[in-house]
Amino acid sequence: MPASTTPARRGATISGWGTALPPHVVTNADFEARLDTTDEWITERTGIRERRHGSSTAALAIEAGRAALDMAGLTGDDIDLVLLATTSPDYQIPSTASQVQDELGIRGGACDINAACSGFVYGLVQAHGLIAMGLNRVLLIGAETLSRLTDQEDRNTAILFGDGAGAVVLEATDDAGQLLAFDLGSDGSARKLLDAPIGGYMQMNGKEVFRRAVTVMVQSANTSLASAGISADDLALVVPHQANIRIIEAACSRLNVDADRVATVLATTGNTSSASIPLALVDALDSGRVKKGDHVLLVGFGAGMSWASAVIRWTGHLPEVAS
Ligand code: UT7
Repeated sequence: MPASTTPARRGATISGWGTALPPHVVTNADFEARLDTTDEWITERTGIRERRHGSSTAALAIEAGRAALDMAGLTGDDIDLVLLATTSPDYQIPSTASQVQDELGIRGGACDINAACSGFVYGLVQAHGLIAMGLNRVLLIGAETLSRLTDQEDRNTAILFGDGAGAVVLEATDDAGQLLAFDLGSDGSARKLLDAPIGGYMQMNGKEVFRRAVTVMVQSANTSLASAGISADDLALVVPHQANIRIIEAACSRLNVDADRVATVLATTGNTSSASIPLALVDALDSGRVKKGDHVLLVGFGAGMSWASAVIRWTGHLPEVAS
């Protein structure tokens, strides 16, 4: 059975969201001062100007999660499950979600999801599935401290990755909810292209990951769009994984989606893996770029090599700016 489908059960909707970034800003000039690189190279080849370093995955997840709960008018006691997408957990054992569950006073269960940069969309789909099965409210967080997994002396990777978190609250609805379709996938035979051993640093074949990223994002997006019964023309917004502006531009151009329909934050966050899609989504929501009824495509790819896309029709809460 394919890993894509069109759900038609008890639905869910996003009722709150929040983000967290550590305060320490690392600029391209900071790297220029100590590595064989330049601001010009980094900006032109990646679109990244600065990223944040510091904190812990749990601390960022808790800050973003608390903001999402506050916005939804809920406390931890209202939440049936916390799903934490992360590829940089604070401990080998236990899950980082267990600390989030404790500190936010969440009544229900807690677990981490590791699907690298696709993790948040994997979590979104899982949250919808569990709500379809009877849960009422799920807190979904993408949080990373990738600066810990990156050799800060390696110009190939140090300039790319940053730390941060984004969170959403999903609540059951009486209707079909927001999620129209999704596509989840993985090509484990390519897993050596991007990995980090336990206790070691990330290594990546950047060129090959780049090439695959563009192809896979477009394929997965088209699969989800077809399952949803809409075309790219119907999209108000694409929220892609934030790895490299050239990957985003190449993929969106193949989808015939122009830049003013694409959410990007990577210039100021760098690549934050599981956190990148919620950071970009929240930025777009807070800027009033999403209106009721809009179709939004979320699409991620990353280590594994994993990919995930989802089409939602926005039925959820809207911030003041958009109303
Ligand atoms: O989250 C999902 C996983 N990650 C990604 O999606 C990242 C995918 N890959 C990329 O974004 C790009 O491949 C990179 C940004 C990593 C590299 O860009 P590129 O245009 O593919 O460069 P390249 O690897 O072809 O390297 C071109 C040159 C090389 O030098 P030589 O061999 O031509 O002399 C690199 O050594 O650029 C050199 N280079 C740098 N030069 C200055 C690599 N990193 C740097 C650097 N500053 N930081």
